[in-house]
Amino acid sequence: MNTIAPIKTFEYDRPVGGVCSTSEAWARVPSPVEALEKEALKDHIRRLLKEKEAVLVAHYYVDADLQDLAEETGGCVSDSLEMARFGRDHPAKTLVVAGVRFMGETAKILSPEKTILMPDLDATCSLDLGCPADEFAAFCDQHPDRTVVVYANTSAAVKARADWMVTSSIGLDIVEYLHKQGKKILWAPDRHLGSYIQKKTGADMLMWQGSCLVHDEFKGIELDLLRAQYPDAKVLVHPESPSNVVEQADAVGSTTQLIDAARTMDATTFIVATDNGILHKMRAAAPGKHFIDAPTAGNSATCKSCAHCPWMAMNGLQNLADVLEKGDKEIHVDPEIGRQAKQAIDRMLDFAAAKKAKALPTGSLEQESKLFNGIGPA
Ligand code: 13P
Ligand code: SF4
Repeated sequence: MNTIAPIKTFEYDRPVGGVCSTSEAWARVPSPVEALEKEALKDHIRRLLKEKEAVLVAHYYVDADLQDLAEETGGCVSDSLEMARFGRDHPAKTLVVAGVRFMGETAKILSPEKTILMPDLDATCSLDLGCPADEFAAFCDQHPDRTVVVYANTSAAVKARADWMVTSSIGLDIVEYLHKQGKKILWAPDRHLGSYIQKKTGADMLMWQGSCLVHDEFKGIELDLLRAQYPDAKVLVHPESPSNVVEQADAVGSTTQLIDAARTMDATTFIVATDNGILHKMRAAAPGKHFIDAPTAGNSATCKSCAHCPWMAMNGLQNLADVLEKGDKEIHVDPEIGRQAKQAIDRMLDFAAAKKAKALPTGSLEQESKLFNGIGPA
């Protein structure tokens, strides 16, 4: 039996505490720069990265110039799982994370000895904002019999309370694995991703009721109408989207998995239900194919994002150059919280490595403990 916590509504225009609201985030999105100035800035950043021996790790939702710079300077642009792995394994002492705060924190937790910089430390995420650590801890305390699985899009303190951290690329596999071990799960914070995984695995999942304000905007009815206009188009959906959008998907997956689907699927037109920052890489990965944004309510309605994350958009060339020059916007994580959170992240990374090596344990508790550092309550 699955129990569901009450849906919480958060007002992202007036969030509590010193966090960055959507309207503040949009106001702080860097203005576009002229072509000549842009080239000069990019050269400056290339020089600074070398001089500071820093590496740029970017997400697919950030500005296209930042994505290109990351790749051409030996950094990476990827989904949140690969960003974590790349940052951990890279020998550079300084990582600049172009994305949102939880990505910077994950990098710091995995590599406390490294300096982790971000172009704007106030770039946050509605899932992170919607899952305050104290309320989440109280929720966990009420359900001590459940294995706590949290999405990467959470604070370090929430991860510290979890048995496992997952990203969208591996959440389904991990929950399926835990379900087979007979575990009951407490899932947080994204209710859409949680319910997608629950339907796929049949796992017993008690859910926190957070959501991503970008993906929450995609509309199932409008998508149905758009599909009628493009009957040959395939639909690519990030699982943070509502279920009536996910149900119409030809491929559901993380950002990297959606780019792979665009490249490998036998279609020339795709409707894409995720942040439209991904289209830069999708077009490069699948030249000649045609991509259409999945419909949202539109600018005239209540749309706070219209398929683009306001916090991801806060990353720009100028604030990237500034942070490389000054080194001031540094991520700090309380060492004890970081140590606890690392266990949940390491389990996921170990699981991902075992899956890649086709060496997942077949059920021996001893083998599991060795591989995944123990896996929470039975
Ligand atoms: P991915 O792990 O798929 O890159 O997703 C991160 C994210 O924030 C999606 O909104
Ligand atoms: Fe968070 Fe959604 Fe932005 Fe991703 S797109 S960082 S889930 S608010």
